[in-house]
Amino acid sequence: MSPCLPISPSVRVAALVALALCAQGCTPPGKPTPKTVPDRPDALVDFNLLYATHCSGCHGADGTLGPAPPLNDPLFLRIVPDAELVKVLTEGRPGTPMAPFDQKKGGPLTAAQVKVLADGLKTKWGAPPTSAAPDVPPYTLTGTGDVENGRMAFAMACASCHGDKGQGGKTGDQSVGAINDPAYLALSSNQVLRRYVITGRPDLGMPNYAGKTGRPHNFSALTAQDVADLTALLNSWRSPATK
Ligand code: HEC
Ligand code: HEC
Repeated sequence: MSPCLPISPSVRVAALVALALCAQGCTPPGKPTPKTVPDRPDALVDFNLLYATHCSGCHGADGTLGPAPPLNDPLFLRIVPDAELVKVLTEGRPGTPMAPFDQKKGGPLTAAQVKVLADGLKTKWGAPPTSAAPDVPPYTLTGTGDVENGRMAFAMACASCHGDKGQGGKTGDQSVGAINDPAYLALSSNQVLRRYVITGRPDLGMPNYAGKTGRPHNFSALTAQDVADLTALLNSWRSPATK
C-alpha cells in the first residue's frame, strides 16, 4: 500500500509524470536499490521481482492504491484481453506516463520478461468470474459514443459523487477530485477512462459498472452503450477534444 496516495486525479497524474521522469535519475518508491538488482537483469524472469522493480512505483506495491490504474483488480483482469496486456507493456500508451517496456521500443525488458509480467498479472491477481454478475461491457474501446446520452448517464450514475460536470464533489466524508480537469485528461487515454467507467476504482471507493453506491435505488448496471457514451462525454471535456 502506498504511504501517500494523492487523492485527486490531477495530483495523481502530476505524481506519475514525476515518477516517469524519475526513471533514469533517481530512486522512485518500490524501485530496488542497486544492491538488489541482479548482475544480468535480462535473465530475471520472476514476476514478483520484475513487478517490484519496474511497476510498483506507479501501480502500487500490491497492484492497488498507486497513482496509476490498479492492476490487482479481478474485474479488470477478467475483461482485458491477453494481447492487450502484451501490447501495452511492449509499446506503452503514447501520450500518457505509461512508457514502452520492450527493449525493441527503447525500454528495459526483453520480450520474454514482458510475457512473464503479462501472464503473471492474470495468474497472480485474476479471479474466476462470479456467475451472478450482469454482462460486463467489453474492455476495448469500440465505435463512437454519444455525448448527449453520456450526459444523461453521467447525471444518473456519476454526478452524485463527481458533481454534475465532473468538477468534483463528495462521497460520504471523502472529497472527490475533478475529472473534467484538462491536466488530468491530457495524460489519460480514452481507453483508461473507459476502463474506469467499467471497473470503477474499488481501491478508492468508486463503484464498478454494476455497483449501486451513490446511484438511484432502481439503477441496474451500465450497458456497453452507456459505457461508450460516458467515454465520449469524458473525451468531450478535453481541450481540444481529440485523443
Ligand atoms: C511512470 C509510471 C508507470 C510505470 C513505471 C508503469 N506504468 Fe503502467 N500505466 C501507467 C499509466 C499512467 C497508465 C494509464 C495510461 C492510459 O492513460 O491509458 C498505465 C497503464 C497500464 C496498463 C493498462 C491498464 C488499463 O487500465 O488499461 C497496464 C496493463 C500496465 N500499465 C502495466 C504496467 C506494468 C506491468 C508495469 C511494469 C513493467 C507498468 N505498467 C509500469 C503508469 C505506469
Ligand atoms: C460513490 C461515488 C462515485 C461514483 C458514483 C462514481 N465515482 Fe468516479 N470516483 C470516485 C472516487 C472516490 C474516485 C477516486 C477519488 C479521486 O480521485 O478524487 C473516483 C475516480 C474517478 C476517475 C479517476 C480515476 C483515476 O484514478 O484516474 C474517473 C475518470 C471517474 N471516477 C469517473 C466516473 C464516472 C464516469 C462515473 C459514472 C459512471 C463515476 N466515476 C462514478 C467516486 C465515484
